[in-house]
Amino acid sequence: MTKPLEGIKIIDFTHVQAGPACTQLLAWFGADVIKVERPGSGDVTRNQLRDIPDADALYFTMLNSNKKSLTLDTKKPEGKEVLEKLIRESDVLVENFGPGALDRMGFSWERLNELNPKMIVASVKGFSDGHHYDDLKVYENVAQCAGGAASTTGFWDGPPTISAAALGDSNTGMHLAIGILTALLGRDKTGKGQKVAVSMQDSVLNLCRVKLRDQQRLERVGYLEEYPQYPHGEFSDVVPRGGNAGGGGQPGWVLKCKGWETDPNAYIYFTIQGHAWEPICKALGKPEWIDDPAYKTAEARQPHIFEIFATIEEWLADKTKFEAVDILRKFDIPCAPVLTMKELANDPSLRASGTIVEVPHKKRGTYLTVGSPIKFSDLKPEVTASPLLGEHTDEVLASLGYSQQEIFNLREVKAV
Ligand code: COA
Repeated sequence: MTKPLEGIKIIDFTHVQAGPACTQLLAWFGADVIKVERPGSGDVTRNQLRDIPDADALYFTMLNSNKKSLTLDTKKPEGKEVLEKLIRESDVLVENFGPGALDRMGFSWERLNELNPKMIVASVKGFSDGHHYDDLKVYENVAQCAGGAASTTGFWDGPPTISAAALGDSNTGMHLAIGILTALLGRDKTGKGQKVAVSMQDSVLNLCRVKLRDQQRLERVGYLEEYPQYPHGEFSDVVPRGGNAGGGGQPGWVLKCKGWETDPNAYIYFTIQGHAWEPICKALGKPEWIDDPAYKTAEARQPHIFEIFATIEEWLADKTKFEAVDILRKFDIPCAPVLTMKELANDPSLRASGTIVEVPHKKRGTYLTVGSPIKFSDLKPEVTASPLLGEHTDEVLASLGYSQQEIFNLREVKAV
């Protein structure tokens, strides 16, 4: 099977999560991704949170599958020379160093464009160019705070809260992948490369757009009717944290199921979709609510929505989260069990679809990782193990025309 990105050569100058998530996605779809790492140490995540001594940490293996690893000290003149050769024959360079690091290394956008005018140079930074914080180094949680996610996540009586989903890191990487693919299509038309930049703050905010919607509604009308604060609580002039309330026009909440007293995840998410009110009443055995004016419309239900949720919890008390969803799905009610990582890891449907895959690794044995969440009719992305540090150094250097002696010399000066 020919993969759509076959023939696209990518210099992967990324580390930690945001950049590697982007290049991993492109590698799954067939790009030749060469990860450039510092000799001796490599990507810092190789060593972070190790569960097996002397083997690359899962943090690294789960973000760097399907890539090659080239060790190269790009601060040494000999290393710079190798990088320049690689740049001349690559389609894309992706990096997520701290602000200014690439320039300090001698590879500014202007220099890169001079070396290869067709190359796309893609960067992740914490803040966009010209932003008053554009000199800041940024990690996931910093971005969640800067992008509006933290101030709007959690409960109103608790502090701003971070989401477990990598909204700052992997999400930014996904945005960057879209930018790179767009620039590649653009290059087909113009013959020119370009600079693609994505900031973590912007990417978080892009996913928080409904909260920006709510800020404007709040300023206009003074309240937000789908938030738990309405109609009994107070609103200030900023979007509050809404706990587990649904973000759209459909109220919802996390509800207790059988066993919640001992199992912290014995819950379902229940959505009261407006047009599903009749089936909800039928499913709950409350047919009298269907035409009751106090329950009939979303507007009538909102003032006592938590009493309604409490009634649903009574109904859920003798049902596990899975039993409850099996009943509710027959009534077309949008709901799901709150699934744990253990349940997801063992989910047969996710295994069958390739969303969770087992990958053999030279040092770790087999490990579990995520596969492509994007499914195609003509492509089944195959996930292969992340490379060992420098595993492909000789191969890449040979492909650039270096002889065995020259490779030996580069090793002697610790440039590779
Ligand atoms: N050979 C030689 N030097 C190398 C190298 C190589 N192969 N690879 C990296 N380096 C150098 C860089 O040139 C830089 O040197 P300098 O600061 O002296 O100019 C240094 O290693 C790495 O710098 P930096 O990226 O700033 O690393 P850090 O560990 O201090 O910061 C981050 C980590 C993630 C905070 C920072 O990279 C960052 O803010 N990145 C942008 C936002 C981002 O992607 N964050 C999320 C990561 S999940």
